[in-house]
Amino acid sequence: MKIQIPRGTQDILPGTVERWQYVEKKARDICSRFNYQEIRTPIFESTELFQRGVGETTDVVQKEMYTFKDRGDRSLTLRPEGTAAAVRSFVENKLFGQPQQPTKLYYIGPMFRYERPQSGRMRQFVQFGIEALGSHDPAIDAEVIALAMSFYKEVGLKRLKLVINSLGDTESRTAHRQALMNHFSSRVNEFCSDCQSRLEKNPLRILDCKKDRNHELMASAPAIIDYLNEESKQYFKKVQAYLQAMDIDFVVDPNLVRGLDYYNHTAFEIMSDADGFGAITTLSGGGRYNGLVQELDGPETPGIGFALSIERLLMALDAENVELPIEQGLDCYLVSLGDGAKDRLTPLLYQLRANGIKADKDYLNKKLKAQFKTADRLQAKYVAVLGDEELEKGIISVKEMATGEQQEVSLTEIVDFLKRKI
Ligand code: HAM
Repeated sequence: MKIQIPRGTQDILPGTVERWQYVEKKARDICSRFNYQEIRTPIFESTELFQRGVGETTDVVQKEMYTFKDRGDRSLTLRPEGTAAAVRSFVENKLFGQPQQPTKLYYIGPMFRYERPQSGRMRQFVQFGIEALGSHDPAIDAEVIALAMSFYKEVGLKRLKLVINSLGDTESRTAHRQALMNHFSSRVNEFCSDCQSRLEKNPLRILDCKKDRNHELMASAPAIIDYLNEESKQYFKKVQAYLQAMDIDFVVDPNLVRGLDYYNHTAFEIMSDADGFGAITTLSGGGRYNGLVQELDGPETPGIGFALSIERLLMALDAENVELPIEQGLDCYLVSLGDGAKDRLTPLLYQLRANGIKADKDYLNKKLKAQFKTADRLQAKYVAVLGDEELEKGIISVKEMATGEQQEVSLTEIVDFLKRKI
């Protein structure tokens, strides 16, 4: 059988990879402006990290992890998300002890979830995420949301919808949990087996069950927002006030619960409402996770962050017909006519490149006309033609492709000439 790419993964080929490079560069730019620094953690981690960090009752941990034993019989998992790993590293490297707090981190890298592949849902996808660890200030919740929104706007998206909610502090969550148990317990046998086991362990997870989403008890389920205590309400109000002060539009959705267990207080998602975007409209999600650092054996430290996938971002850009300003083409293509000239091109090309000029030449012994064709295809701004005759005179003939203008330049000056032009 022919070997093929695994389901839910993709090759990103030249011609497309430039779009990835463009948005990744934009991500790095914005992180640097917001003062977030890059962290790189391993692709695989101890399975226990995600069991404890993301939560035993989540779909991600129960159904979607790529878990395997290595040759030393350790259980390892390809990371399904970046937050648990960032927090593990924050604890392990004692970043909490550094003088500058909060610790503001970002990452861009592949994540792995065994999900049913469809447009916008991959088994390997690339997340850009940020995590701010060490501050209880609602202003940093607003900062994280602002970074996400600014990033989307700066790459050119317009049809964005920001949805926020509060999951409250421990006291509010406990009250809500009890209300959910009361709500579902008498009729839990009408729900899937996962939901039945969630009732005791984590009734909040019932609310994002994909199988039972249309059950009548779902719509009437108690919303966390009605169980927020005064402190949680104030916190949420403050976050909203900061967003308003930055002119960031949002809607409050009391049903937004998020699929991972570590959240409390602020939770948010950003959707695309572009026509033709498809079934999956969530572009990114995030929220506050004040208990996670402690859960992963670190000192009590609050945190908040978000992540988005580049795959969904590129889909949204397509849906909105956004053309990315990707620079294409060579500065100069070198063409030769005759053997002596051909040999002279190799050191000349080397010299151009050493001087920052994007340049190339033919390696297939093509005829003059075919070399020009290649130059065209590579969108060369200049084509420099060296014949044996020119070589003798120490000159090269340079044509500017946009204007058709042609001139002879001394071989000793060609580098400076092109540098000036480009
Ligand atoms: P999440 O909502 O599981 O949150 O994922 C965040 C984003 O990753 C989604 O909104 C989506 O853009 C993308 N994503 C998730 N699964 C897939 C998939 N199968 N294919 C393509 N894209 C996908 C988290 O992962 C949290 N760690 C976010 C966070 C950071 N919360 C706090 N800090």
